[in-house]
Amino acid sequence: MQNKLIMKPSHSSSILSPFLLLAFTLSVAIFYCAGFCYITRLQDNDRGPTTQTISKSEKLPFAVGEANRGCDIFNGSWVRDYSGPLYEEWECPYIEPQLTCLEHGRPEKDYRFWRWQPYGCSIPSFNATLMLEALRGKRIMYVGDSLNRGQYTSMICLLQRNIPEHSKSMETFGSLSVFTAKDYNARIEYYWAPFLLESNSDNRFKHRVTDRIVRNNSIDTHGRHWKDADILVFNTYIWWISGLRVLRGSFEDEVKDIVEIPMDDAYRIAMKSLVKWVDKNIDPTKKRVFFASMSPTHQGSHKWGGDPNGNCYNETTMITDPTFFGAEKSLMQVTTQEFSKSTVPITLLNITGLSSARKDAHTSIYKKQWGPITEKQLANPKSYADCIHWCLPGLQDIWNELLFSKLFYP
Ligand SMILES: *[C@@H]1O[C@H](CO)[C@@H](O)[C@H](O)[C@H]1NC(C)=O
Ligand SMILES: *[C@@H]1O[C@H](CO)[C@@H](O)[C@H](O)[C@H]1NC(C)=O
Ligand SMILES: *[C@@H]1O[C@H](CO)[C@@H](O)[C@H](O)[C@H]1NC(C)=O
Ligand SMILES: *[C@@H]1O[C@H](CO)[C@@H](O)[C@H](O)[C@H]1NC(C)=O
Ligand SMILES: *[C@@H]1O[C@H](CO)[C@@H](O)[C@H](O)[C@H]1NC(C)=O
Repeated sequence: MQNKLIMKPSHSSSILSPFLLLAFTLSVAIFYCAGFCYITRLQDNDRGPTTQTISKSEKLPFAVGEANRGCDIFNGSWVRDYSGPLYEEWECPYIEPQLTCLEHGRPEKDYRFWRWQPYGCSIPSFNATLMLEALRGKRIMYVGDSLNRGQYTSMICLLQRNIPEHSKSMETFGSLSVFTAKDYNARIEYYWAPFLLESNSDNRFKHRVTDRIVRNNSIDTHGRHWKDADILVFNTYIWWISGLRVLRGSFEDEVKDIVEIPMDDAYRIAMKSLVKWVDKNIDPTKKRVFFASMSPTHQGSHKWGGDPNGNCYNETTMITDPTFFGAEKSLMQVTTQEFSKSTVPITLLNITGLSSARKDAHTSIYKKQWGPITEKQLANPKSYADCIHWCLPGLQDIWNELLFSKLFYP
């Protein structure tokens, strides 16, 4: 620990003077309040007829302080940090082989030495003890696609060193994976639901279907498995991008009513359904809900002014153009529009912008492949580079640091 502190490079240029910081914090606090200090009305179907009101100034569940009030922790820059990741790949046996880049021969390791520095404040150091204590007798559940699964795995890796061997276990029950820290009676869970809604891609192990169909008004199909979680972290994005159709009625119908609608409209169905589910099922005085925004991809280097035929393969540096955004911008707007209608607060983990720079952080070709690689592919490695998923340890640990920050210091 001491070592880590000593090894941290100084970055005085990015640290504001106390006076400036105070001025900044005050001015943003006012702005922040305009957006967030609304009155939350509890939905009462399950909780009796009286309408309770809680104001946002009351303590959010799990909050221990307000260190970052008024600071947008998602707006900042990447800073060199030679102390390296919070854990080593070999130390964490729970990382799926699709994400273990070093084991699969990634030659350079530059991507491991970056820290996220918000402009207006610093994020608190990740404290595994605090996280485990907060989870005592509780459940945190990540729900979504394989990218959220990566973030779930990162969280386990961030915590597991603090748990003795005999006191932890990992089990899988269909769509659900459960890591248990027995001494804490704490569960860290992952639920596969790439669209959140019911779809024909819901089989955790056999979901690579080309003709993807999502069923409208079906969030309860999976949602009934999320109700008992104390902290929920949702994501859904990449599966909505193209070639998707929407089913009205049921998958059992003999004649299926299936329509093709524009991406934004389809995604809006997901966001509306999520908000409705959260409003109906979450008691905001006890539970917290997070949503990780779109995980960017780097599948075409022409998009950042690189080789016209390249992708993330052999990319070892970041994109410096701050306007590069590696995801569908319009969907971010859909998300914020629908979340603004929620009565229960959903904390957005706005990781899209900060991750857009990280073309260096993908697993690329350094992963266990789903199938054999042909001679032809080998001759042209970028043809099988994965520019969607991220190496662990790596970028997704930062997402969890930001989650940690929002959970305890909202
Ligand atoms: C991020 O912070 C910088 C510096 O404070 C500011 O100029 C910029 O507008 C902010 N960007 C966003 C998206 O809020
Ligand atoms: C981590 O959290 C625990 C529990 O709240 C606290 O006792 C400890 O001092 C914290 N450690 C650091 C380095 O802040
Ligand atoms: C999905 O269901 C909602 C609510 O019932 C409805 O308003 C919407 O039109 C439906 N969308 C489609 C594509 O059928
Ligand atoms: C990788 O990129 C470097 C320049 O950054 C280049 O010199 C090298 O030839 C590239 N390697 C491959 C295999 O494309
Ligand atoms: C998320 O961050 C990006 C910059 O990275 C910013 O442009 C966008 O406005 C943010 N979205 C929200 C909802 O705060």
